[in-house]
Amino acid sequence: MKHIEKLMTNRISPRRFDETHEITNTDMESIIEAMRMTPASYGLLNVRLIRLSRGEFKNSLNGLFYHQPNFTQASEYLLFVVDKSEKLINETIVKTADQIFVGEPEKGQKFVTSFQERIPLYYGSETLVNEWSAKQAYITLGVGIVAAADLGIDTVAQEGFDHLKLNQFMVEQNLIEDNEMIVLGLALGKLSNLDFDHTKKAKVRRDKKEFIKTIK
Ligand SMILES: Cc1cc2nc3c(=O)[nH]c(=O)nc-3n(C[C@H](O)[C@H](O)[C@H](O)COP(=O)(O)O)c2cc1C
Repeated sequence: MKHIEKLMTNRISPRRFDETHEITNTDMESIIEAMRMTPASYGLLNVRLIRLSRGEFKNSLNGLFYHQPNFTQASEYLLFVVDKSEKLINETIVKTADQIFVGEPEKGQKFVTSFQERIPLYYGSETLVNEWSAKQAYITLGVGIVAAADLGIDTVAQEGFDHLKLNQFMVEQNLIEDNEMIVLGLALGKLSNLDFDHTKKAKVRRDKKEFIKTIK
């Protein structure tokens, strides 16, 4: 079995983490850097992370994550923040063009005009542009899960939180803007040996024959 296949076959999403385990800062930075290098549709820069290490602030969010043990016990936690439609169209496209086309303002302007027209046209509504924006976070999530597994760090993605209240709270705390939203979280740590859920169960995945059809 190839390295990457083994990693993904053996990794599991903990329901419980070892509360005493710490992830080194070097490992966290390496995972975050791998995530920052994730490709994005149109190359747009619309995803960012908020890192919550163990402490008072993270504990204050326990209720909004429904006290899931894998949230409360995680060594580290990443929140995925993406642009809402308005910020994406009016700010992020311009910012991305500035970074791609340094010293080439005409090309930059073309990029801006083209995407400011195309994105609303392709997706048709603010809601669908928001959805598009959120999808980019899921790609970053995938990279984070594999990068962590490569370092022997366990992860569980989380959509199970009070989205409305968490977003309101983070805006009130000035940690996200009104025109941004948290769509997803990733808990990182070490699987607890009290995580009985997983010890007896085999991984459930789509059957290989169903999952992949090869055409020559
Ligand atoms: C996008 C996404 C959201 C998830 N949300 C939660 C969650 O809120 N709480 C949780 O305990 N697990 C969550 N999971 C973990 C899944 O339940 C888990 O990956 C799945 O059961 C397969 O188990 P495995 O990863 O151990 O193979 C989520 C997974 C993904 C990919």
